[in-house]
Amino acid sequence: MKDIIIAIDGFSACGKSTLAKALAKKLNYRYIDTGAMYRAVTLYFIEQNIDYTQTNQVEKALANIEISFQNINQQNTTFLNGENVESKIRQMYVSEQVSPVATISAVRRAMVQQQQAMGKDKAIVMDGRDIGTVVFPDAELKIFLTADPQVRAERRHLEYLDKNEHVDMQVILDNLNERDRIDSSRADSPLTQAEDARVLDNSNMTPTEQMDIVLDWVEQVQTASNTV
Ligand code: DC
Repeated sequence: MKDIIIAIDGFSACGKSTLAKALAKKLNYRYIDTGAMYRAVTLYFIEQNIDYTQTNQVEKALANIEISFQNINQQNTTFLNGENVESKIRQMYVSEQVSPVATISAVRRAMVQQQQAMGKDKAIVMDGRDIGTVVFPDAELKIFLTADPQVRAERRHLEYLDKNEHVDMQVILDNLNERDRIDSSRADSPLTQAEDARVLDNSNMTPTEQMDIVLDWVEQVQTASNTV
């Protein structure tokens, strides 16, 4: 079967990364979590006290940021300048700053360039907000994932509990709503559904049901591209 690019976009905490990871494993493809890249940039800005309203500070900082991924104990793990930052970038203080940072065009340009390089050999599943619209507008399969906001907040709450972190449900819901608002209304590459994306609302679906639908789609596009 021909290798393809699978772009998964959608609102915060819709289960994009859970689906993308499982799909990549199943297909033996590479998985790239682009949200983790914006989170790593945000962490760097926080730790280095970068005033991200100042273009010159942002440009200088970007030149010093190197983001990579490694598979550690079967987990996709994010590295920032050689440091494992996987758990730091998931914390609420990063979640609260990441959407404003992701509105900065210089940041987006730098991330999109790296993401396009990562996908040049295809065989990749990438999730984010602008993958099907900006990063890979020609991706063979584009999925736009949605889920009910309450369901999304409950899932995120369980993820925090799993890590022994107690974050109030209302704080999570407010953060998700605020991020969706900023992500969808920013001037540069706002979160929108690509015209040719297939929409999947997973509010009432089990991971297996969801995977079955998506594997069907993969087969359809692979069959179509093999016959071209
Ligand atoms: O997927 P996530 O929640 O980890 O993403 C964190 C933030 O990064 C999200 O609020 C918006 C931003 N983001 C983006 O602007 N473009 C992407 N391709 C991925 C994430």
